[in-house]
This record gives sequence, structure tokens and C-alpha cells, in this order.
Amino acid sequence: MLRRSKLKVFALLPALTLAVAAAGCGSETTPAGGQTGGADAPALIKSGKLVTCTGLPYEPFQFEKDGKVIGFDVELVDLVAKKLNVTQEIVDTPFDGIQSGVDLDSGKCDLAAAGMTITDTRKQNFDFSDPYFEATQALVAKKSAGVTDFDKLKGKKLGVQNGTTGMEYAAKNAPGVELVTFEDLGLLLTAVETGTVDAAINDNGVLFDWIKKKPDFEVGKEFDTGEQYGIGVKKGNAALLKVINETLAAAKSSGDYDKIYEKWFGKKPTK
Ligand code: ARG
Repeated sequence: MLRRSKLKVFALLPALTLAVAAAGCGSETTPAGGQTGGADAPALIKSGKLVTCTGLPYEPFQFEKDGKVIGFDVELVDLVAKKLNVTQEIVDTPFDGIQSGVDLDSGKCDLAAAGMTITDTRKQNFDFSDPYFEATQALVAKKSAGVTDFDKLKGKKLGVQNGTTGMEYAAKNAPGVELVTFEDLGLLLTAVETGTVDAAINDNGVLFDWIKKKPDFEVGKEFDTGEQYGIGVKKGNAALLKVINETLAAAKSSGDYDKIYEKWFGKKPTK
């Protein structure tokens, strides 16, 4: 709906990277310069940086606080940057350009980490890492409105986020419901809060996080969409994909993944 032109670059403080790395001591590490100097080292678009495309805000996966971008995805990608002996730099850009593969193709970033669901359509346009998080679509609305499922929204307005799996799911499964598209999650949730829309659909993780601070709102139906998040790289960038997958696997076995998960979700992962 509202299209604000946004291309904001955040350089992450090395301290953040170091804090995470220190937490993982004992896990597999790469000697300084090891990855960057190796024969099959991934080529990065900006020397010394691992540039990440993401769509803000998407709390707790990626959001801005005190001028810095923090969150679950940010910390996972910090581990990848650490492994490559570089620092992560984050580019905030509309999610639709991320999920279509356009941003990766045009060299805007090395990878995309945006709470992004692995889908067959997206897989045709770019390559995904191994899955790192499970999600499902859900509805959020004011408690007093009682619009906890699609049938209660007939003739009413449902907010969707542009380019997302939630938007696609609602378009297929909510006949008679008027869909209103928003560019990012922040605008979508503001519309729910102000009553511009009767409800919104998005991933369960971000909605449960939001209602913690909004006691008048509730998460209604969770649709069993069985989604998994993956990190995207430009099609054919096998060298970077390999480092990402190795880093995710190492983080899972070292316990780093669980620590980061608990930090952002307040509980241990269920598997
Ligand atoms: N998981 C959903 C999808 O892949 C929504 C992701 C939105 N992410 C964001 N950073 N805005 O479509």
C-alpha cells in the first residue's frame, strides 16, 4: 500500500559478532583469513563484509533498536560472517524484492536473511540454505473483534504483507475477505492497531512476539502451513551456500543455535 523508498545500510558493531563468537567457544573455528584466502572461498560483493538483505521490521528476527539491527536471523548470519572472517552489513529493502530474487541477482547483497520461507517458486529464482526455523501462518486481531478465523472475516478487511507466503495463503483461502496489502510488518501491525484493517495474517513467530506488548490483541487461528525458513543466496553461489550450511550445522551441534534461540524466543527450541 504505502511504498516508501528504503535502502538503509547498517554496519554492525564487531562487538556483537565477537559476543556471539565467544559464546560458541569450543566449536569449530576458522583461523583468521582462512576462508577468505582459500581456493573455494566465496566471492563477496564488498571486501571485508558479508552484506545481508532483509526487510525491517520483523521482530524478533530482525529489527532496529538504538540505531542497530538486531535479532535471531542477525545473530545466525553473524556466525557466518565470523566464519568468513568478515563483518555483517545489513541492507534494509522491501521484502518483495528479496523474495523474488531480484535483490540477489542485482548484487545488492551476498545473502538474504529475512524470516523467509523456503518455497518452490522462490527456489526457481535463487538457492536456499538448509532450513533453520519452523513457522506457520496465523491471524492477529483485537480481542474484542472476535475475528479469529477467515469465516469471521467475510466482508471485512484483512491486512497482508506484500510478497509474503501469508499474502499468498490468504488470497487462496479467504474467499469473500477484502485483502489490503502493506509493504512491511510494521505498517501491517499499525493498521491492525489503529483499526484500518480488522485483522492481519503473518507468521506466528512475529505475531506472538507482538502481542506480548499488546494485551488487547490476540493471535487467532494458526493455519498449518508447515513453513521452514532458509537463507537465500544468488543462484549457483555454491561456495557461500556451503559456508552457510556448515555454520548452521555447527551452531546446532555446539549449542550456539539453542542459545540464540532462547535469547530471542525466551525458550528452548522444541527440536
Ligand atoms: N515467512 C514469510 C515469507 O517468507 C514472511 C517473511 C517476511 N519477512 C520480513 N523480513 N519482512 O513470505
